[in-house]
This record gives sequence, structure tokens and C-alpha cells, in this order.
Amino acid sequence: MLIRDHITHQEDDAPGKSKLKLLVPTVGTFFTPLYLVDAFRHQDAQRFISRRRFVAPSFNDIRLILNSAQLLGLARTTGVDLVTFDGDVTLYDDGACLTDDNPVILRIMRLLLQGQKVGIVTAAGYTDAAKYYERLKGLLDAMYESTEMTDAQRAGLVVMGGESNFLFRYDHASPSKLSYVPREEWLLEEMKTWQEGDITQLLDIAESSLRACASNLNLPVAVLRKDRAVGVYPTERGRISREQLEETVLVVQNTVERSEVGSRLPFCAFNGGNDVFVDIGDKSWGVRACQRYFGGIEPARTLHVGDQFLSAGANDFKARLASTTAWIASPAETVQLLDELQGI
Ligand code: IMP
Ligand code: MG
Repeated sequence: MLIRDHITHQEDDAPGKSKLKLLVPTVGTFFTPLYLVDAFRHQDAQRFISRRRFVAPSFNDIRLILNSAQLLGLARTTGVDLVTFDGDVTLYDDGACLTDDNPVILRIMRLLLQGQKVGIVTAAGYTDAAKYYERLKGLLDAMYESTEMTDAQRAGLVVMGGESNFLFRYDHASPSKLSYVPREEWLLEEMKTWQEGDITQLLDIAESSLRACASNLNLPVAVLRKDRAVGVYPTERGRISREQLEETVLVVQNTVERSEVGSRLPFCAFNGGNDVFVDIGDKSWGVRACQRYFGGIEPARTLHVGDQFLSAGANDFKARLASTTAWIASPAETVQLLDELQGI
């Protein structure tokens, strides 16, 4: 009832705050209703939550109930026209590649065969199609070899790299099975105002802040500066502690936010599990650009699947501004989620 009331409040542009907004000031926009009771029944049948005597409903129980409620919300109202996926942890393990034995391939192919569009919206930022081919080879080869799939269905796949910076479309004729789409063809109006000088300046500030942090926290890292991103990654084997990664994200985010250019240009500082990156733009722009590329798909018909939704230093979080979302914790959960969506 609270969510339904909040949606009505949103739609009517009613004055003041909805009751839900008063109770949860950080609550955002809901693009579809959420069928929480049915979702609870569904998850309870799988996880036996209500039969437990000692362990209260956990964070994971609630995350999965909300995912189910969102899938039901999409299926029972608008339907899904576009599914966007994060890469690392969502489609494959952190830092790994989408190899041909990955069960998610068949599910993504199923979406495409049904005429739905698919975007892989990843932070991994490369200007070269061959790099993405290396990461996504299993899926791209399967699409290439499929005898069932039409060219129109194949054209339903795009890869958005660097959060919202580099767009590639499926290309049957290219050796890397992808080709770069020039920015003029897909940039949103607001993105056209992003100035090269501002981009360099923002990355300069982020870089010096990352370097100061690395030295202050004595991090065993190297700095990587790219066209549209700057990051630190570990030089030695082994890991940087979560606390150090998070401190770095928050310091850089804070420093850039307080700079003049940081108020003009959107950026995204995040903890990638064992590295910290600052990208120009964020996944809300990435998802919106995919929606626009496919002819203007609405937020209520788009689902973004990702693993990074904790608000501090998580890059999928921003996708919530542009689409409905599902929060998964492993590639296996992504497969389960897609099967659940198919089965509704
Ligand atoms: P995602 O989970 O698919 O969004 O990928 C995030 C990971 O991509 C980061 O943790 C980095 O290890 C890696 N990466 C490679 N290039 C970039 C870049 O330009 N920006 C941000 N992350 C990058
Ligand atoms: Mg990820």
C-alpha cells in the first residue's frame, strides 16, 4: 500500500511527500508496482523463511524478495523490452571472461530470440572491440554460430563500456563480432555538452587524489589513466582490504565533488572489488543511452541486473535512476533470475 501510494504521489506530482518518503527519506522512484506478497510467497517456497525459528529474515532474503517482486511488477504491467547487465560478478566472476560453458549464454540468447534487446553495461572501458571480444567471447561466438537467430535479433545486442562512454554493436562481419558505434549516433543531448577540457580536468583531480590516497594509506597499487577513466589496481598479488578500497573511493568522490568541474560533469567513483576507478558519466547514462539506441525504450520496460547497489562506491546503483533493477550476488543468481523471469 505504501509503495502504491508513493507511485500515485509520483504520477500525480502531488505536493509534499508520500508517507513512504517520510518514513524512508532516501527512497527513489518506482517505475512499476512491486508485488511483495506474491514475491514473499514465491521466495518462502524456495527458502523456507517462515519456517525458521531462530534466524530472522536476512538481508539476502529481502534482496531476493524484492527481485522477485520487481520481476512480477514488470511481467504483470509493462513487460520487458530491454535487459541490461553489468559484467563482473553479474555475468562472470570478478575479472574473469564470459566463456562458452557459462549457462547465462543460453538465457541471453533466449531473450534475443524473443525479440528483446540486451545491453551489457560495464565499467570495463576499452576503445578497442577486440578487448570486449576477449571478455565476451562465449556469448558472441554462440550468437555467430546460431542457426536459429536472425540478423534482426542479433542486432539486439550492444555493449556499453566505461559506464556510458564507448558503445559497440553486434557485427556479424567483424572478426571481433562487435563494431564501435560513433558517439554522434548515440549520445544523449545532455552528454553532448560534456567538454573535453572538463573531462581532462576532472580526471586530473581524480588522479592526484588517488595518488595522495595510495601514498597516505600505503597501498601497493599502480595508477592507470585512460581516455575516460582513471583508477588504481594492485601491483602485487594479494588483495587490498575492503576498508582501504572504501576509504579511497570516499576520499576521491569527496574531492571531485567539491571541485568546480565536479559539479558540471557526472562521474562515478567505485570500488571494483580489488581496484578503485573513477569514470566519466555513470550507469544511469549508460542505460539511458541503450534505451535511446533501441528507439526510446521506457524505464518501466527496462531491467538492469547488477551486483553493485550499496550506495557508497557502487556503480550499478545509479542505474536505478534510469530503469528497474535486480540486485544479484553471483553469476549463478543471474541465471536463476532470468529463469524466474521466463517462468512468470
Ligand atoms: P563491471 O562490474 O562490469 O562494471 O566492471 C568493473 C571492473 O572493470 C572494475 O573493477 C575494473 O577492474 C575493470 N575496469 C577496466 N577498465 C575500467 C575503466 O576504464 N573504468 C572502470 N573500471 C574498469
Ligand atoms: Mg559488477
